[in-house]
Amino acid sequence: MSIAEAYDMPVTRAPLVPPSPPRAPDDMTALGRMKAIRQSVIGSWGQRAYEEDIICGRFFGRNSFILNQPDAIRHVLIDNYENYTRTPVGFRVLRPLVGGGLLTAEGRAWKYQRRTLAPAFSPRAVSPLVPHMLAATDEAIAKLRAASHAPVDLREAMQRMTLEIAGRTMFSFGMDRHGAALRDFVMEYGGKLARPHFLDLLLPLSWPSPQDFSRARFRKRWTAFVGMLMAERRAAGKTDGAPPRDLFDLMGAARDPETGAAFTDAQLGDEVATMILAGHETTATALFWALYLLALDPATQEAVAAEVQGATVNGALATVNGAVDIERLKFTRAVVEETMRLYPPAFLIARAASGPDTIAGMPVKKRDVVLIAPWLLHRHEKLWRDPNAFMPSRFMTGTPPDRFAYLPFGVGPRVCIGAHFALVEAVLALAKLIGAFHVSMVDKAPVMPVGVVTTQPDRSPMFAIAPR
Ligand code: HEM
Repeated sequence: MSIAEAYDMPVTRAPLVPPSPPRAPDDMTALGRMKAIRQSVIGSWGQRAYEEDIICGRFFGRNSFILNQPDAIRHVLIDNYENYTRTPVGFRVLRPLVGGGLLTAEGRAWKYQRRTLAPAFSPRAVSPLVPHMLAATDEAIAKLRAASHAPVDLREAMQRMTLEIAGRTMFSFGMDRHGAALRDFVMEYGGKLARPHFLDLLLPLSWPSPQDFSRARFRKRWTAFVGMLMAERRAAGKTDGAPPRDLFDLMGAARDPETGAAFTDAQLGDEVATMILAGHETTATALFWALYLLALDPATQEAVAAEVQGATVNGALATVNGAVDIERLKFTRAVVEETMRLYPPAFLIARAASGPDTIAGMPVKKRDVVLIAPWLLHRHEKLWRDPNAFMPSRFMTGTPPDRFAYLPFGVGPRVCIGAHFALVEAVLALAKLIGAFHVSMVDKAPVMPVGVVTTQPDRSPMFAIAPR
């Protein structure tokens, strides 16, 4: 497919339908569902969840609602968002990692943190961080080029690269010394403690579950590690008076616009952990799936490569007013957007009602659970044409999809604070990677998505990369 074709959108060949797990039986028992959830939340959803507007059920003594209807989603995530917090199991899994940081804060504490941090994530603040992103991507490409004679594990390469980007944008230093330890923390937690146990779902939050004791031990080691990173960054130099050079400077200098208060050291540690974790794994996941899809769809891959070539001047991405001209990478961006439609890194947004409410005419009680699943919405039969097909051209029409049908970053007051950062990072990195290599699969068996915290591949397949 040529770029012109992509921009004009004629679909002249059958689009790729990439792998997705079989749908669960609609009539699963609570225990069966629990078992399926521990394996992968995505695999626990049946066909009805892809067809109906709202699915009501009971789950361990509570009502649960899966919302696929725009008005109902708007109600929960925007109009009455203050009535909905993260779920008890969400708190159990996330707090050991991010403490009281922005991701898990609620009420007044959340409002304070959000308004204090927002300026550090504005497009204006992200722009000076782009050179860090480009440098880390160039280094990842150089390493891949050196290894390109043999099959490569691009999932691991993407995790390392986004971690490096997170480290440099946060602290201005690379992750060569601490990256392995940080990755070990993430893998250790994701491998076991992030998977909800039966008792995690059953017990009230005030009762620690057996897993919570292990999570608390993990937290002790993890916060000591983050504290060590912060101490190293501080030792590397104060920047009083100088313009901020990284997110750590920006967050350290952030003051509550209403009260003028700064973050305490412990709060700053939680925000640092939040941004590193919320940022790097999600973006690595998006990039992995984008590379996988492009490997399965060589014509679309060539269209990206042609766009990148057209946006390259003297071996580097073209700039405008000193910044990379991301407007010249519209099709690459459409590939990233379509990837996050089919494999949204955050596959589920779960909320618990903190008081009674009515959603789409249905009564909701305190502690009922409301699920808004980008995975389901993005593949919903009523909301998308060819919902399971990979068609980046759907993002090239000039009309964005319905605001409540496409939610890779959520929506409303709690929308992802790093959305702009992540999109810039993912588009630039994908452009550079596909500009550098032709990517194909060595390992031809389908790669299945697994929903545990993020939409992970069930294994790390090997890719062949040929320098262009
Ligand atoms: C492709 C990459 C990313 C995806 C798909 C993603 C997705 C999301 C989603 C869906 C939410 C909303 C959750 C909810 O409403 O419950 C969220 C929130 C959040 N994200 Fe991201 N994210 C990405 C990258 C990032 C980056 C790069 C950062 C930081 C550098 C970040 C930091 C956060 C934080 C702090 C929140 C909580 C915001 C709040 O509650 O006020 N994310 N993200």
